[in-house]
Amino acid sequence: MNSFWKQNKGIKKSGLMCLLFLLLSITGCSINQPRTVAIASAHPLATQAGFEILHQGGNVYDAAVAVSAALAVVEPSGSGLGGGGFWLLHRESDQLDTMLDGREKAPLAAHKDMFLDVSGKVNPRLSLDGVLAAGIPGMPAGLVHLSKHYGKLSLAQSLAPAIRYAAQGFAIDSRHQKLLAFRKKSLNQHAETAEIFLDKGQVPAANSLLKQSDLAQTLEQIAAKGHAGFYQGSVADKLVNAVQQDGGIWTLADLQQYQVIERPVVTGAYHDMTITSASLPSSGGIVLLEALNILENFDLKAVDPITRKHLIVEALRRAYHDRALYLGDSDFVDVPVEHLLNKQYAQSLASHIQANKATPSHSLTGEPVTKLGGRNTTHFSIMDNQGNRVAATLSINFPFGAGMVASGTGVLLNNEMDDFVSATNSANGYGLVGGAANAIAPEKRMLSSMTPSFLQDGQRIAVLGTPGGSRIISMVLLAALDFNAGQTPDSWVKVKRFHHQYMPDQILYEKKGLSTTEIDALQALGHQLKQSYNYGNMQAVQLDTRTGELSAASDHRGVGFADVQRIK
Ligand code: GLY
Repeated sequence: MNSFWKQNKGIKKSGLMCLLFLLLSITGCSINQPRTVAIASAHPLATQAGFEILHQGGNVYDAAVAVSAALAVVEPSGSGLGGGGFWLLHRESDQLDTMLDGREKAPLAAHKDMFLDVSGKVNPRLSLDGVLAAGIPGMPAGLVHLSKHYGKLSLAQSLAPAIRYAAQGFAIDSRHQKLLAFRKKSLNQHAETAEIFLDKGQVPAANSLLKQSDLAQTLEQIAAKGHAGFYQGSVADKLVNAVQQDGGIWTLADLQQYQVIERPVVTGAYHDMTITSASLPSSGGIVLLEALNILENFDLKAVDPITRKHLIVEALRRAYHDRALYLGDSDFVDVPVEHLLNKQYAQSLASHIQANKATPSHSLTGEPVTKLGGRNTTHFSIMDNQGNRVAATLSINFPFGAGMVASGTGVLLNNEMDDFVSATNSANGYGLVGGAANAIAPEKRMLSSMTPSFLQDGQRIAVLGTPGGSRIISMVLLAALDFNAGQTPDSWVKVKRFHHQYMPDQILYEKKGLSTTEIDALQALGHQLKQSYNYGNMQAVQLDTRTGELSAASDHRGVGFADVQRIK
């Protein structure tokens, strides 16, 4: 009997539906139970691609392949074949929780000083625009692995909707236009890239058709040949030629050596909520759990709203401080994960938080920095009414990655090399600082903030995540607290956001995210505050384990689409 039904067993008199579901499971009659699936993604066509595959007999993992590939085509600002990501999976039949790590890797010829100029100063543009910014992609390997080891359908079947979208084109929306405008300068530096995405160098009109025929062909190669369709043969040759012609350092060996790694997930508890989240090389799960562990030492439900925000900020400050000090690819550096997630350690950090005073970040150590980003990346969530689920956060880093398509492939290169630390205490594009643990080294994976997560209590299971660079973790934390307060997916994605990441030492908040009274009160406690544009694009689904009912929500800040459908 799976855990979904084990939970139902413990619930008394929850109504006829529940009893019926319980009886069905005990008698092994779950085949009579209508199958429903919830999907929330950042683009309607990607959500549709997932349902298309489910209606063809696919399982949630096939649907995840279809949604990932579709997003790579219809939301090229957020993720793509030239990028990478993390797929957090749960399979009910054997209670497996695992994370597919398809994060990009530094090329073999990368070295720790590669973004310094002759005077030893960081040249930030080098890790953001063009070929040196690009890590070796993990997304294609992730799609192949997910389909081969977890799917029921063929890879070609699951990739079909994405291939169709690329070949036939789709109408671009206002969000796509906005992000094109943000990266127009970089995109215009490469004629072929500008030809694909721009209209005579300008942002195309709303509803213009974006066709990506080279990308369709690259997807066809993957559909036909699997891993080798991207990492060997003609696509690999074209990728390496394009990168080297522009002065980059990729070799065929880099592509041939790339492998997905399945990693144990990070788990923890906050009161009666269990959290399952991304492990290293993402900092997401560790920072999320460390912050929640700190917050568990306070009664957040009893304190006034200002104190609540102050405490959340102080917890984030300390968890992000540890991120900067300790976190990096654990295949390369020793990271004290157990210590960081220890409840007593959290208690000692909490004991230094003052209820009536902000702790200056510099008193924790580190150098102040000023930049912040966060409109990149993508996330989707899928769950069926048995509890099988996928939370995937995928990225090419900045919108449209490095701003360059490798000639003849349609593949936009990522600029994830910027997620490494170019020099100690030099901030990256998100204003994040770090040290040796996240220094560049050949074949190392750069530290991420992506936080695909599952939440669970006695009655509900949630699947959620969001794009947003360094702010991803605080957004997931705010949503997790909202879940813990009994709210629904619609509420988690709407929560007004505020953020602190240790450095810069400031609370960033969305317009109307804090009231004037709260701003004044937080300032009086010694916090610096800065208003931000609205950020994030959370995609969330929930299963009520008492009734078997699924619900889903897509962040109103984006153009995504969430739906629950009955699958015959
Ligand atoms: N590129 C964003 C992240 O991985 O955190």
